[in-house]
Amino acid sequence: MIGRGRFLTLEGVDGAGKSTHVQWLAERLRQAGRDVLVTREPGGTALGERLREMLLSQPMSLRTETLLMFAARCEHIEQVIAPALAAGRWVLCDRFTDATYAYQGGGRELGAAPVAALEQWVQGGLQPDRTWLFDVPLEVARARRSQAREPDRFESEADAFFVRTRAAYQARAQDDPGRFRVIDATQGIEAIRQELAQDLRALLQEAQ
Ligand code: TMP
Repeated sequence: MIGRGRFLTLEGVDGAGKSTHVQWLAERLRQAGRDVLVTREPGGTALGERLREMLLSQPMSLRTETLLMFAARCEHIEQVIAPALAAGRWVLCDRFTDATYAYQGGGRELGAAPVAALEQWVQGGLQPDRTWLFDVPLEVARARRSQAREPDRFESEADAFFVRTRAAYQARAQDDPGRFRVIDATQGIEAIRQELAQDLRALLQEAQ
């Protein structure tokens, strides 16, 4: 019988550098013989990618934004994530619901309660097995963002927004230390990869 796969997510404020590590993690897992699916939120399905385009560019109310994040997520879970996990695949997802708690709940000050209600409705019991939180101070994230392309609707937010977003992420990590690993993302790429590699070994061993 094929066992359930593992659901691994990467989180952090814009400019934390998490996306640099996604393909590398996938490669390590493939070398360890796992069947890996790499995906992202918002996105991951044809509809989800269309919603992403709107979410990153189109002004909208906070409730609409939150509902669209979960609409994209609902499609993503039903069409992609749940079937992959059921087939024994390891799913690496660049952002998931912790981002809604951090950005909409914290950054935009919606609070956690509406996010928790939608999470329950859309996900039932589905939660990541591991979440790596790439944590960086505001100044570092801002400097990395300014090297990137034209900022989108989130990236162009004020400093205070990212301070609240980071704090919400940190609070979530503190509340669930079994699932979260907080990575000091001011470190160089190699140091970060060493930490990730060590954690991957533990995850792979647990899954034996
Ligand atoms: P990305 O740049 O990591 O691909 O994410 C796109 C943007 O969407 C990023 O600024 C964070 C934001 N976002 C939310 O605000 N809420 C969410 O639930 C998700 C998944 C992303």
